[in-house]
Amino acid sequence: MPADTFEPRLYGRAKGHALKPRQARLVDELLPKIGLPKTIHTAADIAGDDRPLWLEIGFGGAEHLIAQAQANPDVCLIGIEPYLNGVAKALVGVEEDKLDNVRLVRGDARLILQSMPDGFLDRIFILYPDPWPKKRHNKRRLVQGEFVTELARVLKPGGHLRFASDIDHYQAWALAHILDDGHFSWTANRADDWRTAPDDHVPTRYEGKAKKAGRPCVYLDFVRTH
Ligand SMILES: C[S@@+](CC[C@H](N)C(=O)[O-])C[C@H]1O[C@@H](n2cnc3c(N)ncnc32)[C@H](O)[C@@H]1O
Repeated sequence: MPADTFEPRLYGRAKGHALKPRQARLVDELLPKIGLPKTIHTAADIAGDDRPLWLEIGFGGAEHLIAQAQANPDVCLIGIEPYLNGVAKALVGVEEDKLDNVRLVRGDARLILQSMPDGFLDRIFILYPDPWPKKRHNKRRLVQGEFVTELARVLKPGGHLRFASDIDHYQAWALAHILDDGHFSWTANRADDWRTAPDDHVPTRYEGKAKKAGRPCVYLDFVRTH
C-alpha cells in the first residue's frame, strides 16, 4: 500500500441476518460482474461508454439507488455500501428490474474514492449517514474535512452533491464542513429549498423512519465550483 494511502477505520455493522438463498447467489455470481475495475481512468472503464456517473455513498436498503437507476437509464449509478445485507438488497433490485446501469461495491467509500480520477463524477448522494451523535464519536462521522476535499476532487466542476439528514447537529456540521472546504456552493435560496424534498428525490427507508418519529429532514444541495 502506498505510504500516502488513507485507511480509515470502519464503524457500524458489516453484516446482519443470514442472506436468503437468492441474495447469497447474487452476491456470489452477480456482484463480481457489476463491481468496479481495480484501475479506473475514464467513465468508460465503469459504464462501458461516456454516460454520466452518479455515486451513492452508504445506500443502505438501496431504495434510492435502484429508483434513480430506473428513472435515469442514461446515467450509470455507482453504489458503495459496506453492509452486506444492503448490497444483497441492491443486487435483488438490479436483477428484478434488469438494470444494466448499476455498479456496486461492498466497502468503505473513503477508500474506494481514492481509486477514482479527478473530476470524474457528475453527482454524489450522501443520504442519512450514520449520525454518531455523542460528541466523542463525532470523529466517526463520514463527513469530515478530508473527506469533503476528496468529494470535491472526484466531482466534475459543475457536478452536484446532495446531503440529507434528520439529525439537526449533523445538518449544521455537514453544511459547515462542506462550505469550509471552499469548493462547493450551496444552491438554497430560501428555507423551503432545504426543508422540502427536491423533486428528483426518492425517500429512503431511514428517512421514512425519521419522518414517522417526527424528525424533520433536511436536503442540502451543492454545486462543485470551478
Ligand atoms: C443510517 S444508514 C442510511 C442508509 C440509507 N442511506 C438510508 O437513508 O436508508 C447509513 C449507511 O451508511 C453506511 N456507511 C457507513 N460508513 C460508510 C462508509 N465509510 N462508506 C460507505 N457507506 C458507509 C452504513 O453501512 C449504512 O448503510
